[in-house]
Amino acid sequence: MGIIKKFRITTFKKEIHKISLKKISLSFNKRQILEDINFNVKEGEICGLLGPNGVGKSTLFNIIVGLLNPDYGKVFINQYDVTKIPIYKRAVDFGISIVPQSGGVFSELTCLQNLKAISEIVINKKNDREFKIEKMISKFELDSVKNIKSKHLSGGQRKRLCIAMSLLSDPKIILMDEPFQGLDILSTRELQETIVNLQTEDPTRSCVISDHAARDLLAISDRAIILANKKIIAEGKPSEILNDEKARSFYFGDSFNIN
Ligand SMILES: Nc1ncnc2c1ncn2[C@@H]1O[C@H](COP(=O)(O)OP(=O)(O)O)[C@@H](O)[C@H]1O
Ligand SMILES: [Mg+2]
Repeated sequence: MGIIKKFRITTFKKEIHKISLKKISLSFNKRQILEDINFNVKEGEICGLLGPNGVGKSTLFNIIVGLLNPDYGKVFINQYDVTKIPIYKRAVDFGISIVPQSGGVFSELTCLQNLKAISEIVINKKNDREFKIEKMISKFELDSVKNIKSKHLSGGQRKRLCIAMSLLSDPKIILMDEPFQGLDILSTRELQETIVNLQTEDPTRSCVISDHAARDLLAISDRAIILANKKIIAEGKPSEILNDEKARSFYFGDSFNIN
């Protein structure tokens, strides 16, 4: 935890709410998944979203980007009510981008073709597209695999490509759904640094990241939220969350320690 912390901007994040969820509830086929979910993500914040499998983390991301409509409650982005605004408009108007839990790349296309395909949608000028793609290839160390079909990439390379694609539009809000899943120790470490650097490069950028790798996620989070039994059961700085009684009994267990 200490090593990653070195990279963090330590000035306190501004109290501007980039995302606010108010009283969100959602059921699938009469089975309630989320009940009265309220939380804010501040400008420049890295917010960790933790919770057991099937609790509704991906569902919550889908509600934020507009893939799903809640049965009840409102979604605000940059303090605008976007509950009725469609997905593409949320992406374009508010600079919101998601790195999905799985998929997210065209498996029959090479890295370069994947990046080109997305750049044609999100970047207007051809020269800007080429410049940005080059930058992403170098930043995410994809040069040696840029002409390989993405289905042949390793888990870590595919994840890096997916993140590079999500950054082409220069998003202000990034949602990452289980980005550490399937990564080895070194790739996890590199991804942690990448995420921290995203925030360092643009201190107004906000990230919400879900993962089961609680240690890896808490090491880079300014704040964390724990979902259990349809609700948020704990919220706070990583150190506070770790000592929270409910968080320990519903999620971490008694023996969990970050060091
Ligand atoms: N489209 C859907 N139709 C019915 N049930 C779904 C659908 N999507 C997700 N679920 C259910 O909702 C719950 C939450 O899923 P999910 O958000 O993927 O959980 P998590 O990401 O926390 O593992 C799970 O029980 C899942 O089976
Ligand atoms: Mg999920």
